[in-house]
Amino acid sequence: MNPIAVQLNETIAQGNPDLLEMLSPLGRALFFPKGILSQGAEAKEKAHRFNATIGIATDSRGTMHLDSIMAPLGDMKPEETLNYAPSFGLPALRELWQDALRGKNPGLQDKPISLPVVTAGVTHGLSTFADLWVAPQDGIVLPEMMWGNYGLIFAVRKGARILGHNLFNNSGGLDLDSFARTVRVEAEARGKAIVLLNFPQNPSGYTPTEAEYDRMADILAETAANGARVIAAVDDAYFGLFYTPEAARESLFVRLAHRHPRLLAVKLDGATKENFVWGLRVGFITYGCPVTGDSRPVYEALEKKTAGCIRGTISNASHLSQRLVLQSMRNPDYPKEKQEKFEILKRRALRVKQVLADPKYAEAWDVYPFNSGYFMCLRLKSVDAEVLRVHLLDRYGVGLISLGQANLRVAFSCIEENDIQALFDIILQGVKDLAKS
Ligand SMILES: Cc1ncc(COP(=O)(O)O)c(C=O)c1O
Repeated sequence: MNPIAVQLNETIAQGNPDLLEMLSPLGRALFFPKGILSQGAEAKEKAHRFNATIGIATDSRGTMHLDSIMAPLGDMKPEETLNYAPSFGLPALRELWQDALRGKNPGLQDKPISLPVVTAGVTHGLSTFADLWVAPQDGIVLPEMMWGNYGLIFAVRKGARILGHNLFNNSGGLDLDSFARTVRVEAEARGKAIVLLNFPQNPSGYTPTEAEYDRMADILAETAANGARVIAAVDDAYFGLFYTPEAARESLFVRLAHRHPRLLAVKLDGATKENFVWGLRVGFITYGCPVTGDSRPVYEALEKKTAGCIRGTISNASHLSQRLVLQSMRNPDYPKEKQEKFEILKRRALRVKQVLADPKYAEAWDVYPFNSGYFMCLRLKSVDAEVLRVHLLDRYGVGLISLGQANLRVAFSCIEENDIQALFDIILQGVKDLAKS
């Protein structure tokens, strides 16, 4: 193993030996190389004559560039957009996102967490998480109704076993007995449980209540207290889009990050959905876990391993994208702009609820609980979801997503408030058409 990796592992083990055991074999081997990067940093300081270290090109104007690339970027400078960003991400953006995390989650207060490391969107955050913490044949606890891409990230790419649990009970809340059973069985069998928790949830649009979050955190903390190592990844892709009072406002990460030394919380979030910049691909990965003594060296070691993983895959996330997100977040109008978009989505979600309260739909479907995010989901009673999807597309020009036999996902994030009644009436008509044929 590379001596730098050995050193990082020693630092981690000193702060929390269980953390080292939780790392996958790849996670243990990862490190952030010094080589070219540290020589480049030294040259930046001392090489006043010729600096021939960096793998970019320069000319008399500084960073070499095509005017046709810079022209649409207005006042932005090539040095701030075209140069490579660090594998860790832009330092100012990492600091600002961490401040924003504390602002959005007052429960974090000044509790120690890592500095967020920048990823190319939440998907890349998830696959980086998988590289560091998930080994082939590890089990990963996920609801049976889930974002389909988890299958590619964890089962196909990592060879992990997906351990499905039932998501909802029959009383309009989460089936936490099913969740607890699945976690316990895996923990008892393997001494380790990896769980992936995504709220606001895709596809249902559900965010738990405070009481549900308390119970989930208790289940994981008890599992850790009973001797197993627990890794909890919190996919907060749609964080902040909470529309009804009962949806908990803080991330589950807050309840998990400082709960037990054998419980590691990993927050995966991003500007992609929260700030409506999907194609810019800016995400973050942040760690929280109790550590003995000064937590900073341990978090730095985890950040270095994470950045090493990024260095070895995409090298670094887009500098231009990070710069745009940073500038937007620094703009005094940023909070107001975000609030305006939030209000639009909230009005749509509440309109969906109002429309679906009409008993005329009850024969055709049940509505899964929803209170947040971009989506909601129908459970069809009499027709196959894929057959209905194709029929709605062909006959009415309406596009929805079918999931399994009975579920139809509606992205109300893309439907104007005034069109919501018409949308559900067309879906109902589609169900009736199929019943007749
Ligand atoms: C639950 C969940 N996580 C992550 C993502 C991916 O987000 P990103 O575009 O930042 O990769 C999605 C996108 O659909 C999602 O639904």
